[in-house]
Amino acid sequence: MDLFSAIDSEPARQRMEALAAEIDRLNHEYYMNDRSLVSDQKFDAMLRELQDLERDHPEFASPTSPTKRVGGEVNKSFRQVQHRFPMLSLGNTYSIEEIEEFEARTRKLLDGVEFTYTCELKYDGVAIGLTYRYGQLVQALTRGNGTVGDDITLNAKTIPTIPLRLRGDFPDDFEVRGEVVYPFDAFNAMNALRESENLEPFANPRNAASGSLKLQDSAECAKRKLMFCMYFMMAPDGIVLPGTHYGRLQWADQMGFKVQPYIKECRDITEIKAFIDHWDRARWDLPFGTDGIVIKVNQTSLWDRLGLTAKSPRWAIAYKFKAERVSTPLLGIDYQVGRTGKVTPVANLSPVWLGGTTVRRATLVNADFIANLDIRTADHLFIEKGGEIIPKVVGVDLDQRQPGALPVQYVDRCPECGTPLVRADGEAAHYCPNADGCHPQILGRLEHFVGRKAMNIETLGPERLELLYNAGLVRNVADLYDLQRAQLVGLGSDATIQDRGADNLMAALEASKEVPFERVLFALGIRYVGEVGAKKLARYFKDIDTLMAASEEELAQVEDVGGVTAKAVYDWFADPLHRSIVERLRKAGLQMQVQLEQGDDSLEGLTIVVSGTFAHFSREEVKADIERHGGKVSGSVSGKTSFLLAGEKTGPEKLKKAEKLGIRIVNEEEYLQMTARQ
Ligand code: IVH
Repeated sequence: MDLFSAIDSEPARQRMEALAAEIDRLNHEYYMNDRSLVSDQKFDAMLRELQDLERDHPEFASPTSPTKRVGGEVNKSFRQVQHRFPMLSLGNTYSIEEIEEFEARTRKLLDGVEFTYTCELKYDGVAIGLTYRYGQLVQALTRGNGTVGDDITLNAKTIPTIPLRLRGDFPDDFEVRGEVVYPFDAFNAMNALRESENLEPFANPRNAASGSLKLQDSAECAKRKLMFCMYFMMAPDGIVLPGTHYGRLQWADQMGFKVQPYIKECRDITEIKAFIDHWDRARWDLPFGTDGIVIKVNQTSLWDRLGLTAKSPRWAIAYKFKAERVSTPLLGIDYQVGRTGKVTPVANLSPVWLGGTTVRRATLVNADFIANLDIRTADHLFIEKGGEIIPKVVGVDLDQRQPGALPVQYVDRCPECGTPLVRADGEAAHYCPNADGCHPQILGRLEHFVGRKAMNIETLGPERLELLYNAGLVRNVADLYDLQRAQLVGLGSDATIQDRGADNLMAALEASKEVPFERVLFALGIRYVGEVGAKKLARYFKDIDTLMAASEEELAQVEDVGGVTAKAVYDWFADPLHRSIVERLRKAGLQMQVQLEQGDDSLEGLTIVVSGTFAHFSREEVKADIERHGGKVSGSVSGKTSFLLAGEKTGPEKLKKAEKLGIRIVNEEEYLQMTARQ
């Protein structure tokens, strides 16, 4: 670069620095202190400005810029890197007696020296190590085999609780270790989304966290909303760290790490046991999974004196919580057939009390699961409730097995329609292929079609659909629009549907003709096409004819639509029955193309709380309007709220909370302006 352009670009460099510093500060307030200091729009505008400047002046773009949080760079492969300090594991035990022994042994080895312990949670996630040099995150490695780990730096940068640049005072060169966990809220939301897209839900938060760190697309990792819980700090010789573990965590907190407050300095075994006891009960209320307690000698100068065993230090130990487990008789197996024809075996269990609820049923997942556990008829099964809330079958109680018990015979015909089941290569599940003749599949599709997020035909619950089906009036979704009022009145054994019910139903069907194209597309129930996928397809192809004419390759061009979905969409529209359904729906007057005035993305990414009454909208309408503009409606004000949309008579609690958290309050007029109607 010559001198003149360097001078020319100096203001850009300064602006980039200022923007990065301000965005870092806002991020810190938001994620660490739960405080939102500016509107999401303002924040996004700053981030975009920085992104644009980085594009125009790549020479000034920093590898720890807050723009890295959004992800976008692709991990081609995860380089294997040697750990500077080996990543040790901990001795662990389920027994309180062994904790007592550990405490007594440590005291004896330290022979009269005064010392304390720290007790903290054992986070149930994936261990990683973060290297910082001169306050900048330079590398993130997984544990791997303890000696060599995978370089996951790009993905780690998307985790909001991992600081990319440190604040205040920090050592020039050091490493921080901790666990990446998947908080329950984010995990459940991700699984709900996956189910709506017909993707296999994640088995548990730990596996999901681990898979997320290995995603090739870092932008995808950013969406997972993972969290980093730091639990350790170390540095090479010559760099001085505080002399206690507790002090190190406190320092880390000041540098901008999220240090969990659930840590206690304990003087003796009584205090340690009290801490364990407390968390054994209180763990169920935590927002993320914990599988035990880690007890460490607090004074780091004593660590060398205590030394290491083969692979774990003698100055620390983990107490693992027992997963609550019971054994109960298997009464039988139901085979459930879902909307897509997928068969799921479900164990009927003799009711049993476990971790605060009575368990009567638990999934047996698929045929492999039953075979791998070698479940036999009339076996007693072990049921566990670990960090997750859903009870799991984890094994067979062999002590209770009847002599000569026979292995469970998996069904080979659909329990609903008798069609032989199929199991595609590479798929774990069996499917009933009789999509158009199998009762639960037909009803499942109808239920999906009328659902709130699809056509939203509220008055048609599962019982009424069943009624219409049994009366021979409805076999597929297009039949709904041929219904006549006269056919409905008096339907059901005790005339469940009366005049008013019939009117309401006819009105709801009529109203559904205004439902936007993207939701019609979602309502069709094409495998793998969830809400998001339907939206993307609708926006890309604009109308059903263009979509139906698209090749598999064209379909796969659409953002977020992979090869598997593209094939499913292509196959679905290739079926003449489906084409005729689409034609009938079109004739009935359903939306088959995107409407220009249908809304835009002006509220994309914003979470909005609505309160009070409005001149232009009912409460329901305002919520639908927000969603049409890409926003999300939430029930309560929190640090994550983008703004409070306040009408007349807004709830005083909500106002107070918004003011306290510094959250913007928007009135109806401003809202209309934001969504470009004024
Ligand atoms: S301390 C040398 N503290 O549990 C000591 N580990 O079985 C380093 N873990 O590999 C570990 N929470 O992945 C420590 N509060 C905590 C922890 C914790 C979870 C994990 C860590 C470790 C494993 C030990």
